[in-house]
Amino acid sequence: MTVEPRKKVWATQPVFPDVVARLERDFDVVQATAVTRYTEDELAEGLRDVDGALVCIPDRIDGAVIAPATRLRAVANIGVGYNNLDVDALTAAGIVATNTPDVLTETSADFAWALLLAAARRVTESERWLRAGCWTTWSFDLMLGQDIHGSTLGILGMGRIGQAIARRAAGFGMRVLYHNRSRLADALERACNARSVERDELLAASDHLVLTLPYSAQSHHAIGTAEIGRMKPTATLVNVARGGIVDDSALADALANGRLGAAGLDVYENEPAVHPALLACRNIVLTPHIASASVATRRAMVALAVENLTAALGCGPRAGDPPNVINPRALAQTAHLSSSRTKQVP
Ligand code: DGY
Repeated sequence: MTVEPRKKVWATQPVFPDVVARLERDFDVVQATAVTRYTEDELAEGLRDVDGALVCIPDRIDGAVIAPATRLRAVANIGVGYNNLDVDALTAAGIVATNTPDVLTETSADFAWALLLAAARRVTESERWLRAGCWTTWSFDLMLGQDIHGSTLGILGMGRIGQAIARRAAGFGMRVLYHNRSRLADALERACNARSVERDELLAASDHLVLTLPYSAQSHHAIGTAEIGRMKPTATLVNVARGGIVDDSALADALANGRLGAAGLDVYENEPAVHPALLACRNIVLTPHIASASVATRRAMVALAVENLTAALGCGPRAGDPPNVINPRALAQTAHLSSSRTKQVP
């Protein structure tokens, strides 16, 4: 039996060290001790001498940062969205990439509803106003918002999170419309009580529109001036997907000029920077990319990423068969890792 040195992994952020510690059963682990926004050079340096990495959404893993990382065989993203990974570059280099779907679906759907309710019923706007000491008398038309119950909910991008949002709409007696690259199977449509429509119909008919589609070159600025122009001027727009899907400047302009009722955003084009014109709008709820941020869900995301990384590096009960591979072609190239599972020297 060949005896190999223990593999080395790098956790780029200080996420739940007790969960990350599970990696120590199989690997030497270096975990960042402070939240860090890395430069390209720092990422390249961190990845240079490791076999695997546990990375987060702000870590941009592209061709340049993996070029010197000749040992690197797996990158486990702690997040379902993976537009921070250059999947083509990783695949070309034979590096397995994984993500964390499913475990955050329900929590993210809950949060989309929190943003929708807060924006349409002016919850955070009225709280800011009250705290500023503006409330001197009750008046009949104070902070009038838009109803949720009985209204039409539109969902653009009907993946797992979109479906979970749709299922919750039944409690509010809503009509649910959606548009997706492909139609859901009939049984799923029935379970979500949702009807597939063309994109323009979705824009025009929705009282509240929630975006849950993945970011890609095709979805860049999927919602801009023209699309907002097709929406009702009273409508609410919610984005829990990715920055860049909405043209933030066009949205701010529409909110400020009465062409859209309200918005709730959890993600931004240049986050953590937020477009100054959005910050200046009164009719918007802004949160710092926290849709999946419940304790249980964030722990589950890290645990799944750890499982993915362990398996991608040929260890653990699923050696060679990580549950959530984004680039199966790279996995095929590393198949030898599991077939010749070698004992590692502690
Ligand atoms: C994801 O997983 O893609 C979320 O946006 C991060 O919480």
